[in-house]
Amino acid sequence: MAIELRSGVKYGSFLSLAVVLVAYWFRSPDSSILDDRLDTVLSSLLRAERKVGMNGVSSPRVAIGFGGCVDIIVDGVTLLNKMGLKPTDQPLHHDYIENAEQLAQSFAYFFSPGAASERFVMNDTLFSELVEASREIPGNRWSIGGNAPVMASRMALEGCDVLLGGSFSTDFTDILSQRITVAGNTVDEPDIHLILEYPTGATWGPYTSRRANRYIVHSDDHNPYLDSMEQFQEKLNSFKPDLLVVGGLQMMDSFPFKKGEREALLGKLAKMLSSASPQTAVHFEMASFVDESLMSDLLEFVLPHSDSLGMNEQELPNLLSLFRGSNLTVLSDPNPRVATVLDQMRDLYRLVNQRHQEAEMGRPLTRLHVHTLAFQAIIVKRGSKWKNTMSATAKASLTANRHVCGSPDIDLSKARLIMDESFSISRQEGSQRIPLQESRPVSCWDEDGYEVCVAPVLVCTEVYQTAGGGDNISAAGLVLQI
Ligand SMILES: *[C@@H]1O[C@H](CO)[C@@H](O)[C@H](O)[C@H]1NC(C)=O
Ligand SMILES: *[C@@H]1O[C@H](CO)[C@@H](O)[C@H](O)[C@H]1NC(C)=O
Ligand SMILES: *[C@@H]1O[C@H](CO)[C@@H](O)[C@H](O)[C@H]1NC(C)=O
Repeated sequence: MAIELRSGVKYGSFLSLAVVLVAYWFRSPDSSILDDRLDTVLSSLLRAERKVGMNGVSSPRVAIGFGGCVDIIVDGVTLLNKMGLKPTDQPLHHDYIENAEQLAQSFAYFFSPGAASERFVMNDTLFSELVEASREIPGNRWSIGGNAPVMASRMALEGCDVLLGGSFSTDFTDILSQRITVAGNTVDEPDIHLILEYPTGATWGPYTSRRANRYIVHSDDHNPYLDSMEQFQEKLNSFKPDLLVVGGLQMMDSFPFKKGEREALLGKLAKMLSSASPQTAVHFEMASFVDESLMSDLLEFVLPHSDSLGMNEQELPNLLSLFRGSNLTVLSDPNPRVATVLDQMRDLYRLVNQRHQEAEMGRPLTRLHVHTLAFQAIIVKRGSKWKNTMSATAKASLTANRHVCGSPDIDLSKARLIMDESFSISRQEGSQRIPLQESRPVSCWDEDGYEVCVAPVLVCTEVYQTAGGGDNISAAGLVLQI
């Protein structure tokens, strides 16, 4: 794995350097041509997004689990400096964090390539110190966090009625949209997640980040136990959702469960998912996992019951490596090419469905959405219940800019295209190339039983926040497809 990893990173650095150079070259001599081009892409994406409404008659009903937290968002390097953490000379991957030195090593490992990552801190003292230090950093922000509440809020904003499974404090519940009904316990102390954001080109000692991203640490007490599951399940039958979304399971990653505890929880979850009505589509949102036994459990308990999967460019190779029986990939190229991602998506789609056929239970996979910095890609089985794939891909792409720039209106002076002028649909020799047409930026085509759509992202250059991006993007894509 070490070799694969190193070459991946080198390739990434070359690629992002090339991207920067190309972008620079475009900007300097004739920026008005570039601006026209961006303008056409934006208006065409907006047109594609508007082309379809939600199902029109009534609001779609979406049930989303599990958990949630309060996010404290700070500048990552400022926090490490405040904690007196010296830049390590040894970037290292750790499955979980036990002390400050491991935190420095783990942060450095993901910071340079700019890969999103999330780790459990198994040291309460250290975690409290981090939270205290974050509170004192000027410009810190607090917001609703966790996959489920972020997706729930996005869905509610888009007009869905939402059932949210999670145990929150009353303050937390009070600021949720009126369209969201909470099923879960009331807790006094919500779980806190620390979001260490960094912009492109940030430096920490000898390290420079190649793209904006975040490193997340948490030390949850409630979330790993999915402790809202029972209440959620009780309400599920009468709620009759069109879509059931499962996310937040990474909170179980590297958590010190008692023996058999995690399997029992996931067994209950599998039972809940398998009893969902055939009219309810099931979507599983992946996340940053490193615990191989948990990943194997997901393969056994969650994937077989999901119609749809959502993930980013790190999580795709990570999941794929598990299917291939190799060691988990914890770090991949953060700026992959379209051809590479599409090949990985085809493989994953085929492998999941092959497993489904062999197991003769559960649901086939009919939808796969991968979000990357430069583009969005969605695969949908032809003739399945998922609608409007083209518009959903456009909406996902627009949401990426809106989220990262922190504004519903897209400002082209803060956007750039980093996807190539044309892309190959596979790395196989002789594969078709598709040019990126500004007036029809979403490319869709049919393959072996499914449709593929790819849309470029107007990448936000003045980053407000990266955390929660995948959740906002995935939710926005789903809204138009149910
Ligand atoms: C997987 O990881 C183990 C332990 O770190 C290592 O011994 C083994 O060589 C790795 N296998 C592959 C295929 O990289
Ligand atoms: C936990 O963190 C504290 C504070 O940083 C540190 O003093 C202590 O040694 C750590 N404990 C372990 C077991 O590493
Ligand atoms: C993500 O979506 C939520 C819900 O719509 C929204 O409140 C939040 O602002 C979005 N995140 C960002 C950083 O834009």
